[in-house]
Amino acid sequence: MKTIEDIRKSLESTYMEHEIEEKLPLIQEINRLKKEKNAVLLGHNYMTPDVFHGVSDILGDSLYLSKAAAETDADIILFNGVHFMAETAKLMSPEKKVLIADLKAGCSLAESITREDVKKLKSQYPGVPVVTYVNCTAEVKAETDICCTSANAVQIVNSLDSDTVIFLPDEYLAGNVQKQTNKKIISFPGRCMVHEMYTAEDILSVRKQWPGVTVISHPECNTDVVEVSDFAGSTSQMSKYIRDSGAKDVFLVTECSMGDNLRSEFPDRQFVSSCRTCPHMKRITLEKIKDALLYEQFEIKLDPEIVEKGRMAVQRMLEVSYK
Ligand code: 13P
Ligand code: SF4
Repeated sequence: MKTIEDIRKSLESTYMEHEIEEKLPLIQEINRLKKEKNAVLLGHNYMTPDVFHGVSDILGDSLYLSKAAAETDADIILFNGVHFMAETAKLMSPEKKVLIADLKAGCSLAESITREDVKKLKSQYPGVPVVTYVNCTAEVKAETDICCTSANAVQIVNSLDSDTVIFLPDEYLAGNVQKQTNKKIISFPGRCMVHEMYTAEDILSVRKQWPGVTVISHPECNTDVVEVSDFAGSTSQMSKYIRDSGAKDVFLVTECSMGDNLRSEFPDRQFVSSCRTCPHMKRITLEKIKDALLYEQFEIKLDPEIVEKGRMAVQRMLEVSYK
């Protein structure tokens, strides 16, 4: 259990002192409501530090948080992340009340593809297994064989007994997986609006500016960016790499808040970041989280048919990943 002093300390590398003092009463109120409601707050690595370090109980990448959602004893799961993540939590714990503080916290990848698109691809390539990146709606998950995240995409693709695999909807992640598997990948033109902004030229110019910098990118970036990086992985794999490699100067090719959260975790390292922000992730604020707990809003509701089929796709992924 974090003390108020622990929380204050974890916010010092991002906020001014008076900002921290303004945030602390709200953080305390949220932490009180959490106990009163027996709620657990799952926090994605892209949350701002006040939400991430201040009020979230379980922290991590999409893979870890989907496992955590399946295992919690809490009555309420409040997902501090985007809508598809809260839907995944509902798939894994359908009997629980799953909330998100802002229903408009979407995702350019999840919005790029519909259930109809998947049905069309399946009829175009009969018998070819469909892998969907978790960054898609529950309806799309329900139409697919197995999910994956950026932490396990290659492992999931290689686990399938087929030479060809349909991989949806991120074309850049698909391209990065293609470079690490012998299977033929059929992709779809979806992209993350944050990671698609980075170019290989950006990385080369940062390397000139900061000789010796370690470049860590997310595999939602295009293959050229990943190729000129020192490491590419999911958000939690990025932190693990920083911890294990001992890298001193790090350029993070990902969403802005990741750098703020890592700066607080690794005060002895230097983070260089260009700060591209995800407007969807940034919709989740302390004020909205307090209201979400107080009024038990906004609840994720899914059709039972979608829950049954979508849950299987996520469950299969967890089985392969944590076997
Ligand atoms: P991961 O945390 O699984 O790396 O996901 C990154 C992302 O873009 C989520 O929106
Ligand atoms: Fe979607 Fe990209 Fe935002 Fe993640 S960072 S929620 S993939 S738009």
